[in-house]
Amino acid sequence: MTIDAAALDLLFREARTHNKWRPDPVSDDTLRELYDIVKMGPTSANSSPARFLFLRTTEAKQRLAPALSSGNLEKTMAAPVTVIVAYDPKFYERLPYLFPHNADAASWFTSNESLAATTAFRNGTLQGAYLIMAARALGLDTGAMSGFDNAKVDAEFLAESGWRSNFLVNLGSGDPAGVFGRSPRLPFDEACVLL
Ligand SMILES: Cc1cc2nc3c(=O)[nH]c(=O)nc-3n(C[C@H](O)[C@H](O)[C@H](O)COP(=O)(O)O)c2cc1C
Repeated sequence: MTIDAAALDLLFREARTHNKWRPDPVSDDTLRELYDIVKMGPTSANSSPARFLFLRTTEAKQRLAPALSSGNLEKTMAAPVTVIVAYDPKFYERLPYLFPHNADAASWFTSNESLAATTAFRNGTLQGAYLIMAARALGLDTGAMSGFDNAKVDAEFLAESGWRSNFLVNLGSGDPAGVFGRSPRLPFDEACVLL
């Protein structure tokens, strides 16, 4: 089974990073539907380290504002939803539930701090990418951002949980008027090696 050309356009070929947002709200039901798709994406040992904070009120956005770079401020305040894509550095505590095939899986990470850190960041980032693609599949527009102060976001939103911020994603209905001209991509021969 394959998806058709229109679906590939929606997910990749015609999809753009959005900078201007229409006010149409995104319902909490849609955010739940989004997570139910995202959570099915693969992660190593099914570790599922990503955690998502959906900021969809003015109050929550105001708490985020001081952490944003100037270029990301206005559009993020206007976006119906801003997702803090975070990860739990202690993701391995949930492995007895998430990876029942091996009762010892948590010890791979409790005994190796650097493996735990790499696994949390690698898989948390992958899950952030799944979020972008799943949102597009549901007909939402997206705008990912790393231009913000992670330490400020962690202090404001994540001090209690101990989670760490990775990147942000604006979600909603984008106004094509705010999209930049499409930048080129590397050709196959420059970015790929056939062995
Ligand atoms: C992890 C990540 C971080 C990004 N950070 C920012 C950002 O801080 N501000 C911004 O305007 N765009 C940001 N972008 C958007 C990229 O610049 C954009 O995806 C790229 O230029 C390609 O544009 P296109 O997606 O419209 O083809 C980011 C994208 C990703 C995936």
